[in-house]
Amino acid sequence: MQDSLVVLSGNAHPELAKKISEKIGVPLGEMEVFKFADDESFCKINVNIRKRDVFIIQPTCRPVNDNLMELLIIIDACKRASARSITAVVPYYGYSRTDKKDQPRVPITAKLVADLLTVAGANRLISIDLHAEAIQGFFNIPVDHLYALPIFIHYIKEELGIEDLVIVSPDAGGVARARAHAKRLGAELAIVDKRRVGNLDETEVYNVIGDVKGKRCVLIDDIIDTAGSITKAGEVLKEKGAKEVRAMVTHPVLSPPAVERIEQSPLEEVVVTDTIPLPPEKYSKKITVLTVSELLAETIKRIFYGESVSSLFV
Ligand code: R5P
Repeated sequence: MQDSLVVLSGNAHPELAKKISEKIGVPLGEMEVFKFADDESFCKINVNIRKRDVFIIQPTCRPVNDNLMELLIIIDACKRASARSITAVVPYYGYSRTDKKDQPRVPITAKLVADLLTVAGANRLISIDLHAEAIQGFFNIPVDHLYALPIFIHYIKEELGIEDLVIVSPDAGGVARARAHAKRLGAELAIVDKRRVGNLDETEVYNVIGDVKGKRCVLIDDIIDTAGSITKAGEVLKEKGAKEVRAMVTHPVLSPPAVERIEQSPLEEVVVTDTIPLPPEKYSKKITVLTVSELLAETIKRIFYGESVSSLFV
């Protein structure tokens, strides 16, 4: 039956796709994805996918628009080749932070991307740590929303231990995520609270809600982009007397000057996952990468065999 499961990869993250296909036990479906001289993307699937269940591995990370367009044309090619089902496996969902109209005349790009994927022909989305849970509702097809949480919990238990541990949210928006980690570890929870004060010349004031003095703090976040938020939170925790501070962040977007900021920060370690590839210029002794390939392979198998996915997170 596994013959009817096909794993395809665009150019966004072939290493992750290879790991996933090896863990599932099916070879990556042969295909070409390339650009013409005029920069237009093209793909050609070289295996029969008629009446097959196709899973396309493609995080929409940098170069975001190219990777998104590749994903759309691969979905279109699968639809026209009579695939039975088409699942877009998008470990990192680009544009997820543009998820609401909070100013006049701005787009909700996360919703637009959902529409594009659906119109192209996707029947299902698999993603990890969407910036907002509500993005699931932007789709009228099933969304399997996974969490890096079990991977981080395992690392904390095996590598760090839970003595004197405090799980910290770097902002008010991330409290639910941090609380879920703290609850599973039986650890305390703290929150870095950023406030703007003053009317004309607004300045940012940081407070820490919770006791971090003499504690080992682990900051939890979904995205590390320029690393401004997480390194600032690290500094504040140190000022408040934390013994050591680490960060665990699912998606290593790492736009400049993120790596320099991490290197110069008081953070002992920044643990990320491989939802986004880490090019050599972003390697740092402080950055540890954990793989999501096992989680994605298991999820794909469970979807294919009609088994529960939510039970992976109990
Ligand atoms: C914000 O709500 C997100 O959860 C991240 O904290 C933010 O996107 C990180 O951005 P940066 O690393 O540029 O501060």
